[in-house]
Amino acid sequence: MRYIVALTGCSGMNYGVRLLDELEGEKELIISEMGKKVLEEETYLTIEDLKPNAEDIFEDGDLFAPPASGSHHFDAMIIVPCSQSTLARIAAGIADTLITRAASVAIKEGRKLIVVPRETPLSPIMLENELKLARLGVTILPASPAFYHGPRSMDDLVDFIVGKILDQLGQDHELFKRWD
Ligand SMILES: Cc1cc2nc3c(=O)[nH]c(=O)nc-3n(C[C@H](O)[C@H](O)[C@H](O)COP(=O)(O)O)c2cc1C
Repeated sequence: MRYIVALTGCSGMNYGVRLLDELEGEKELIISEMGKKVLEEETYLTIEDLKPNAEDIFEDGDLFAPPASGSHHFDAMIIVPCSQSTLARIAAGIADTLITRAASVAIKEGRKLIVVPRETPLSPIMLENELKLARLGVTILPASPAFYHGPRSMDDLVDFIVGKILDQLGQDHELFKRWD
């Protein structure tokens, strides 16, 4: 399986970093310019630190890179975390960066696209954008961890969201205790 994992300039970088750890398969990584800055701000990591967990890393400004083309096969794209700015551009059909172009390709080719927005409160514009994408078949998976599984640490909260992403992709995991 080949995945595109994109990190944008949104709080919640730990989710993206952890997904790169746990997701099995070939991973192509794209980080937006703001994503690189927020990554350093929140995790003290740089793009160099993420290299071991991705087969390829592409610049968000590189619209010549393979993920920009519908002929480049990937099984799913996950934007985690996904800023409301990136989400809005995708909802509007704007494809002027590699992340928004690959998302646009995913939608037009009928491939799985998961976006993990983190914002609160949500404005009517944001809600409308999310609804528009959900109606197109995009999975909106808000970064809102649950507490019913007894989390004891920040890692437990992060793992809950990463586990929910893996559930969507059909990958087995033991990142959180299931309700039974
Ligand atoms: C430290 C920091 C945290 C941010 N957190 C969020 C956030 O949680 N959600 C969001 O939608 N935007 C957030 N932003 C704003 C985005 O970075 C901004 O809208 C930017 O244009 C996103 O660009 P990108 O989507 O190309 O990465 C944050 C900005 C900074 C500096």
